[in-house]
Amino acid sequence: MKVNITETVLRDANQSLMATRLPKEDFEAILEVMDQAGYDSIECWGGATFDSCLRYLNEDPWERLRLIRSKVKNTKLSMLLRGQNLLGYHHYSDDTIRRFVKKSVENGIDVIRIFDALNDTRNMRTAVEACIEAGGHAQGAICFTSSPVHSLEAFAKLGKEIEEMGCHSLCVKDMAGIMSPKEAYDLVKTLKENVSIPVVVHTHATTGLGSMTCLKAIEAGADGIDTAISCFSGGTSQPPTESLVYALEQFGYETGVDFAKLKEINDFFVPIKNKYMETKVLDPYVMGTKADALVYQIPGGMLSNLVAQLKAQNAIDRLDEVLAETPKVRADLGYPPLVTPMSQMVGVQATVNVLLGERYKNIGKEVKSYVRGEYGITPGPIDPTLSEKVLNGQKPIEGRYADSIAPEFEEAKAYLGDLAETEEDVLSYIAFPPQAEAFFDYRAKKREEEEFAKALVVSYSIQEVK
Ligand code: CO
Repeated sequence: MKVNITETVLRDANQSLMATRLPKEDFEAILEVMDQAGYDSIECWGGATFDSCLRYLNEDPWERLRLIRSKVKNTKLSMLLRGQNLLGYHHYSDDTIRRFVKKSVENGIDVIRIFDALNDTRNMRTAVEACIEAGGHAQGAICFTSSPVHSLEAFAKLGKEIEEMGCHSLCVKDMAGIMSPKEAYDLVKTLKENVSIPVVVHTHATTGLGSMTCLKAIEAGADGIDTAISCFSGGTSQPPTESLVYALEQFGYETGVDFAKLKEINDFFVPIKNKYMETKVLDPYVMGTKADALVYQIPGGMLSNLVAQLKAQNAIDRLDEVLAETPKVRADLGYPPLVTPMSQMVGVQATVNVLLGERYKNIGKEVKSYVRGEYGITPGPIDPTLSEKVLNGQKPIEGRYADSIAPEFEEAKAYLGDLAETEEDVLSYIAFPPQAEAFFDYRAKKREEEEFAKALVVSYSIQEVK
């Protein structure tokens, strides 16, 4: 039996271990080898990469994608998309979603993994439709979480809904690495009995369960797994590619992956990793095994964010209290899966509750929007006291929030004028307005400097001729 391997070093491993700070210069030289490794796909875009390119790396995210595509000619490229949230933290209009998805495929993406933080399929549909229309592979994802309101039956129903939507495959997305081997086995088995599209499993090594979870998922019939090249694996990242390929092949599974190429890829990334360990961009803290996460159900990225947040407030000694408060806030909010943007929302509210010494003394803007129903249907009911405090007698919204968002593209295009050179620029701006504008300024200045340097060379050589 064939098991498809998706390599995550460029996206999720990069995001989970080092806050997505890997610039294109650091991986460009290995892309052609990665293309020859036999991966089913390389996850390289979406998630936090887009934001990080504009905000921290002074990189055009679209340019980055085109560069990867130019070197990875045969292997599928995949990305993660937060449904109606795209790659941002709030809902966008349908016209933005359609254009963004179309441009992602045009610029080189093959597989788009689409999810909604609340598993509300109404927030996935536009992106799924646009992906299919653009000729991409639409992969609908179920955010895995366990709570008194989540069950195998509910997940099976969700899987069927995703298949009926037209998705080409289904992903079980365990962003927190909390899915146990048994839970993975039962869930994959149930899904395989209920849907006919391929099922892939995405997990994290955070709690130490990752590799076991992958193995049991495959035994239950999963068609693919996500792994990270060993030096960028473990901790809050994915389980190691080499080890899983090694183990699976002994069991007689075929992965199609070339072990010698994996070694070459890992050898390439070792010094890169060391460089970021030295500068502390990669904090060794995230590399460890956090069995506590099984109690707190905290995703990898969220744990490192909480640590950073508390350090900034000089309150790292309150970490245990915040970790204990987090599941309580989650329960109050009707047990949303802790994935972006819910993980940030719950994490910040838990931190505020602890640091202010009184629960919900201050309620975050996003939490208020959530309680009003702007993020979608909550998995379970919201705590009535919290709900009343936010709604203050008003009713939560009915229907899909995005239906109330006016088209965004033309207005943004008119506002940007010459600053935007392409449709992609306008989309970058809609996704992250201040970051995109700052990047456009940087790009213009850099070009001016380059022109100036060129002109200098020209005038110098003219003088020489004289
Ligand atoms: Co992940």
